Amino acid sequence: MQKAHIPNLAQLVEPDRVRREVYTDPDIFDLEMARIHERVWVYCGHASQVPNPGDYCTVQVGRQPMVMVRATDGAVHVLYNRCPHRGAMLCGDRHGNTGAFFRCSYHAWTFHHDGSLRSIPMMESGYAGTRWGRDNPDCQVRSAARVQNYRGFVFASLAEDGPALEAFLGPAKIAFDDMCDRAPEGEVEVVPNCFRVVQNSNWKIFLENQLDALHPSVTHQSTGRAAHDVELEIERHTGKAPLAYHMLSAFSTVTIDKWDNFRTLSYPNGHCILTGYMGLRPRDSDTLEYERVLAEACGEKRKEEILTTDIHHVLLYPGLSVQSPLQQLRAVRPLSVDRTLTEIWHFRLKGAPEPIYRRALAYYNLVNSPATMINADDLENFWKCQQGLSSQGGDWVSFHRHHGSDIARDDAVESAPGRGTSEAPMRNQMKAWAQFMGAER
Ligand code: FES
Ligand SMILES: [Fe+2]
Repeated sequence: MQKAHIPNLAQLVEPDRVRREVYTDPDIFDLEMARIHERVWVYCGHASQVPNPGDYCTVQVGRQPMVMVRATDGAVHVLYNRCPHRGAMLCGDRHGNTGAFFRCSYHAWTFHHDGSLRSIPMMESGYAGTRWGRDNPDCQVRSAARVQNYRGFVFASLAEDGPALEAFLGPAKIAFDDMCDRAPEGEVEVVPNCFRVVQNSNWKIFLENQLDALHPSVTHQSTGRAAHDVELEIERHTGKAPLAYHMLSAFSTVTIDKWDNFRTLSYPNGHCILTGYMGLRPRDSDTLEYERVLAEACGEKRKEEILTTDIHHVLLYPGLSVQSPLQQLRAVRPLSVDRTLTEIWHFRLKGAPEPIYRRALAYYNLVNSPATMINADDLENFWKCQQGLSSQGGDWVSFHRHHGSDIARDDAVESAPGRGTSEAPMRNQMKAWAQFMGAER
């Protein structure tokens, strides 16, 4: 319920700027959870995280602890992680196997993988004559209102109504097509387990950063420059530097002006794409072998189409950042107004030679993991933003860059040529935020 002190939501968001309270007010955070994360499609995990009957993993959807589980018939369910008896969480671990059914650790009530009641100790004698019984729907573990899967990526919506998953994702579902199509077998498999990072900042700050093409060559310049120095040194001695250095040195060699050459495409529901790509289609023998295998699987023409897909990054609002050409994603789980958990996952292309996986793993470790300076660079900015926005040093966050020059085409808004550092993706996210929150002017 909207609290009395929350200012009129429509006054918080303008097309080119946003009030700071959107990032700092705990009551607005609660509303966001109720109206956005606990309503729209939220990514739970990949089906390959639960390959066998009884396999489960726990996941936070909005403020709700959920469990994704594989049933004996192969279906994947997403249930509230909550026993109908006295409310204990059914699964205390992040992942595991329930065996043939869930068994609550408190009083041994048991449940089938779809959440339906299996047994209660001494049920007949204990509950005869009471209002409690098998027919009472409150006896079941509650299920997410809707669960759908797109190419193995499982999403849940906690609201009965709303568009189907594919309609919600719209053109941004290319994130999953691009990732899966690069696999000779047409699908990917998760690599367990993920890195988890807790950021001391609001969840939207992370999402806004994902397609912020202005920041990499500034924020990550020192990391990129150090990597470039080492890269040149190795090249001097051996004649050739390992590809992995390029993943880091690109942050200094792709200078700020060059980022304007990329394009951003903004779609309904807050989703966006950043095109351009750091040039990871080298002509080394590993890549050539992979391309041969892929062409064998789908034909030369289709292989070219797949490998020339112009994507660097896809943001699926409100909580997923996908780098499909490198088979990785980051899932955002808001914890409170100034704390955010990110899960950093990567995937294996089924049927691709091992060195291609090793390349994705190198990027995962060097650019996206908590161990890399790239991640630390970003985290410091996020924390600084949260600190500054909590102050009285200003009321607004600016998203003015190239405002007014974006080009509307069909259902997308494209940054104008040579204006890839447009803040159009942030404006688009806040437009969706206002729509979901009921804050439209
Ligand atoms: S709380 Fe689960 S069986 Fe009692
Ligand atoms: Fe960054």
